[in-house]
Amino acid sequence: MKQYFILFINLLFLYSCDTRSNKVPAPKVLEKPLVEIYKAPDTSDLKDDEWGRQVKYGRRLIENTSYYIGPEGIVSKNLGNKMTCTNCHLNNGTKPFGLNFFNSHKTYPQYRARENAILTMSDRVNNCIERPHSGKPLKLDSKEMNAIVSYIKWVGEKYDPEKHQGYSLKYVDYERLQADPKRGEAVYLKQCKTCHQEDGQGEMNVEGTKYTYPPLWGLKSYQEGSSMHRVIKAASFIKYNMPDKIATLEKPVLTDQEALDVAAFINDGSIHPRPKAKPGHVDYANIKTKPIDYFKAPYLDGFSEKEHMFGPWDEIEKFYTDKGLKANK
Ligand code: HEC
Ligand code: HEC
Repeated sequence: MKQYFILFINLLFLYSCDTRSNKVPAPKVLEKPLVEIYKAPDTSDLKDDEWGRQVKYGRRLIENTSYYIGPEGIVSKNLGNKMTCTNCHLNNGTKPFGLNFFNSHKTYPQYRARENAILTMSDRVNNCIERPHSGKPLKLDSKEMNAIVSYIKWVGEKYDPEKHQGYSLKYVDYERLQADPKRGEAVYLKQCKTCHQEDGQGEMNVEGTKYTYPPLWGLKSYQEGSSMHRVIKAASFIKYNMPDKIATLEKPVLTDQEALDVAAFINDGSIHPRPKAKPGHVDYANIKTKPIDYFKAPYLDGFSEKEHMFGPWDEIEKFYTDKGLKANK
């Protein structure tokens, strides 16, 4: 109520200024529509034409990736594991703050620090096939790549960064916090074990085509150096999305501290091994751009691998901002 009253007074004031002089620019706040959470389109609105069929095939690939292009895929055998894109890009990349594709297509080609190169949308899709899926890249002109990129384009077609929010992730507030894998184990046993299992290997469906609960570590899970392997990023995904279908944006189950702790427990290489990148592979060749929570040296700053992985990140962040550089995360 109080805000409305203040707004009313402001409007009155602006109006009276306006009558005296028409040089007063219209206040921005009045032009801007409310920021709303983007809602992805519905496949039932797609026509049964070439485009509609292509987008729907793309969606099926995101949802049942392993069935089509997994280790025993019916179309090709690109992936090295049986995870699917939707295991991380929730609801086929349409969930607000659930690693969705809302603003993806519009922002590529773009410079990517990890590869130290300009990547197209297709290159970025292949990144996820090579890293979390430990796979071989799809051919850029394949029907499958075309379908996936078309689907990603369609999901974000009406997304307007000026008007909408909800893209990708909402970050946890890690200021002054440090992640502790030991405390994270307790969180895991209490909040995650029922689905992802005590050994973190999750559970397959009866047909063996898809995980009902995907693995969080071990050789069947995502690779070292994947984005989910970074503690701040993983904690941000976990806080607003896990436990699955229980945690929400408004009512997360975990605190920032618990999300960071459990992300540290999952990603701690000294307790939970996972596939390694190909020998000779170099991430962030330009070390100035290395994210503050990346697990492996060399770093531009003097902080250790352990500090980068588990924080606290405030001093690390300060090192970069003091130099006028971006502290990536
Ligand atoms: C283990 C989890 C995981 C899996 C499985 C996975 N991804 Fe990703 N993907 C991520 C994370 C994390 C990011 C980084 C998002 C960020 O930086 O905010 C990402 C980023 C992307 C992006 C870039 C989005 C953007 O807007 O910049 C695309 C496109 C993408 N993934 C496609 C795919 C596709 C297609 C598959 C399946 C073949 C897949 N991913 C499987 C975790 C995963
Ligand atoms: C009620 C069951 C359930 C619980 C409890 C649960 N998850 Fe999940 N989790 C899922 C499902 C299902 C997916 C895959 C989503 C999909 O495919 O739609 C998933 C996906 C994930 C992923 C991304 C995929 C991967 O394998 O890396 C991470 C990370 C994750 N969960 C972490 C956690 C953590 C940490 C907890 C505890 C705080 C937790 N989950 C609790 C069901 C659950």
